[in-house]
Amino acid sequence: MDLGTGALWERIRDAALEACRRSTTAAEIEQVRVAYLGRRGELTAALREVGRLTPAERPAAGEAGNRVREAIETALAGRLMEIADRELVRRLQNETVDVTLPGRRPAVGHSHPLSTARRDIERIFTSMGFAVADGPEVESDWYNFEALNMPVGHPARDMHDSFYVDARPGPDEPAGRMLLRTHTSPVQIRYMRARAGALPVRIVAPGRIYRRDDDATHSPMFHQIEGLLVDRDVTFAHLKGVLAEVARRLFGPETGLRLRPSYFPFTEPSAEADASCVFCRGTGCATCKGSGWIEILGCGMVHPRVLEFGGYDPEEVSGFAFGMGIDRVAMLRYRIHDIRLLFEGDLRFCEQF
Ligand code: DAH
Repeated sequence: MDLGTGALWERIRDAALEACRRSTTAAEIEQVRVAYLGRRGELTAALREVGRLTPAERPAAGEAGNRVREAIETALAGRLMEIADRELVRRLQNETVDVTLPGRRPAVGHSHPLSTARRDIERIFTSMGFAVADGPEVESDWYNFEALNMPVGHPARDMHDSFYVDARPGPDEPAGRMLLRTHTSPVQIRYMRARAGALPVRIVAPGRIYRRDDDATHSPMFHQIEGLLVDRDVTFAHLKGVLAEVARRLFGPETGLRLRPSYFPFTEPSAEADASCVFCRGTGCATCKGSGWIEILGCGMVHPRVLEFGGYDPEEVSGFAFGMGIDRVAMLRYRIHDIRLLFEGDLRFCEQF
């Protein structure tokens, strides 16, 4: 091997640089590096030979060999960068975006008419100082009937065709049969008991309720929003004032409110409230069946026994309560004539609102 003259170094260098130029991938570059600079590489072997030269020959040969190593390393690194750049350019060309193409509109969902109605009703009440409460849909007979002044055998129970279920009351619940709640009124009792005598009690409680009914105007599952206000010196005038304001905010400023005497076991006196017909403005149409009025809720002054079941002293406090059908409000607002449409989930229906 002619380490002294430099011919060998030049041959190795030229061969390595040529192999480097011919490489087109990072893997090929690595092969070239191993072939020349690796532990058993050609240049490595030649450099090892330098140790056998005479002390006089060694420095020049070593220096020449190291220069070749540097040259090869520099060439490999440069070529590797070129390959990476070319790769990047190719990728960018493949991934070009045609900014002139029309955009694709994402599918946007929206609230169901029932959700909108519930939210609007909640907002009206919260703006008047009411809190929003809720209670379980699987309810005990005691909360659903008994504590609302409907003891076993009370004829008013017949109006609530109930779904009884095989469920056990929770550990802190009164014993008795369990059912799917037939109205939101049990939340009155639950909330009063949780407040433990504190005043005022001022809530609305929206939610699902269940009755064994099924036709164009009745669904086995529907929605109510319960209202309850208990404080000192609450009168029927407060009830009427709040409901008249709610009717105006819900159906428009010209809306009138009318109270008709009625009967509920949990209120005394009791009334049903009608709003002037949103469609004909009181002159009579098909929706209001010619009367000019549409029933929107039941209400009354909380019965003394109900206050007691809630842990309040009827000698000290009084209250009013009401129960409004949310589905009814949505049907009136959007002129929907079949309640079942609200629950079928048919997009052709839902997308109209
Ligand atoms: N719970 C009654 C029902 O489902 C509605 C109702 C009437 C609720 C009068 C009340 C009320 O709070 O005072 O038919």
